[in-house]
Amino acid sequence: MAETYDVVIIGGGPGGYNCAIRAGQLGLKTACIEKEDTLGGTCLNVGCIPSKALLHASEAYEGAKNDFAAMGIKTTGLEVDLKQMMAQKADAVDGLTKGVAFLLKKNKVDHIQGKGRITGPGQVEVTGKDGKTQTVSAKNIVIATGSEPSTLPGIEIDEERIVSNTGALSLKAIPKKLVLIGAGVIGLEMGQVWSRLGSEVTVIEYLDRILPGTDNEVAKEAQKIFKKQGLTFKLGTKVTSVEKLKTKLKITAEPAAGGDAETLDADIVIVAVGRRPYTEGLGLENVGGTTDKRGVIQTTGHFKVADGVWAIGDCIAGPMLAHKAEDDGAAVAELIAGKAGHVDYNLVPGVVYTKPEIASVGQTEEQLKEAGIKYKKGKFPFMANSRARTNHETLGFVKILAEEGTDRVLGAHMIGVGVGELIHEVCVAMEFGASSEDIARTCHAHPTLSEAVRQAAMGVEGWTMQM
Ligand code: NAI
Repeated sequence: MAETYDVVIIGGGPGGYNCAIRAGQLGLKTACIEKEDTLGGTCLNVGCIPSKALLHASEAYEGAKNDFAAMGIKTTGLEVDLKQMMAQKADAVDGLTKGVAFLLKKNKVDHIQGKGRITGPGQVEVTGKDGKTQTVSAKNIVIATGSEPSTLPGIEIDEERIVSNTGALSLKAIPKKLVLIGAGVIGLEMGQVWSRLGSEVTVIEYLDRILPGTDNEVAKEAQKIFKKQGLTFKLGTKVTSVEKLKTKLKITAEPAAGGDAETLDADIVIVAVGRRPYTEGLGLENVGGTTDKRGVIQTTGHFKVADGVWAIGDCIAGPMLAHKAEDDGAAVAELIAGKAGHVDYNLVPGVVYTKPEIASVGQTEEQLKEAGIKYKKGKFPFMANSRARTNHETLGFVKILAEEGTDRVLGAHMIGVGVGELIHEVCVAMEFGASSEDIARTCHAHPTLSEAVRQAAMGVEGWTMQM
């Protein structure tokens, strides 16, 4: 009979593979089951990584086209080679997925290829691509099955013309007209990629704002900037159907509040209306596990579903972000090993990798107001930051929110080039329970974009200097 594992993880995405690595490091006999050919899950294969490769390449193209001349750099014959752009993306994905396989091996984790299904306590049946099954026994099962794109009634994703994030990252040609349903993170990132490469992009959003959940002031600024860059927004609008005609797609939409319908045509429609937990065929019921109406696996506090069954990442509550899943994964491995394991979801940063980037951590002004928490605010525009000026990248601002009285930092919200990196200074500060004064009195190198964070922190007590 096969040996019993200490931990068997179902899913090899950022949650699953980080859990596996940490469990391996802690000396637990571990296996990671993944149904796809490559490890890395949505993030590495059809999410964070390929999208960043396309965002980076398209940004470089746009820079060469629009910004180089002003810096005294002349270009001629500039053109997009989509095939090569896709190849460099595939290369990044390939290298990183192989890297994950290497890390599992290095930490003595068995990688089992196939789809895992829980058949009872401590039992996982794995069905390989050839249809053969095997049963794996484990003292602990960790569910890390992630999420899948949500769809809209009557709109069928074919990944050719009507696509999710997966198809949007592998279009075979630059669409002339692109319609995006959903002005969330995927919508805006993909909208920018294809708009930079030449598509006419319309974003249809149900709500009357973009990026729900993001600090209002930041979202408003983002919309203004993206509109200037060429994206068309149709807010407060609901898509009711997408009809596939021979040469184009016909989109019917109507005001969310009710009213006359209108039609638009497009070559490609990207559906980016959120994601839902992926638990299909998982056998959760066989261990007494349950989900809520949205399919979110219910846990009792620290990732526990039932005795010896745990769940992490996108399939449980909390932000659906790769780095949150990673932290969940490490925490569960530590709990299984008898250590403490905890993740503070309030301190999970969120970054939208557009240009300019949008980054946030902690609570928004709206959340603080709703909770009746009194706060002070410091804000600093990149227009007044010397490094942003030398780089000709002066859009956006940094905003720091601190509790009135204690001065404890409660949130930071930023929009600007590079803020996806700058946010972590505030994350660390908040982990240490810092006050705005702690950040304000920390020496920051000059000239750096980070000085904008310091100046915003100084602004909380009204002593911003460089303005
Ligand atoms: P999202 O939740 O960010 O945005 C979905 C948008 O679609 C919302 O604005 C919503 O109001 C809108 N919507 C919903 N139904 C609609 C309808 N019928 N018509 C028009 N609009 C509608 O979800 P998204 O962009 O699909 O991303 C999925 C997940 O992946 C998110 O959890 C996101 O955090 C994650 N992700 C994170 C990235 C990052 O961290 N940079 C990048 C890409 C995705």
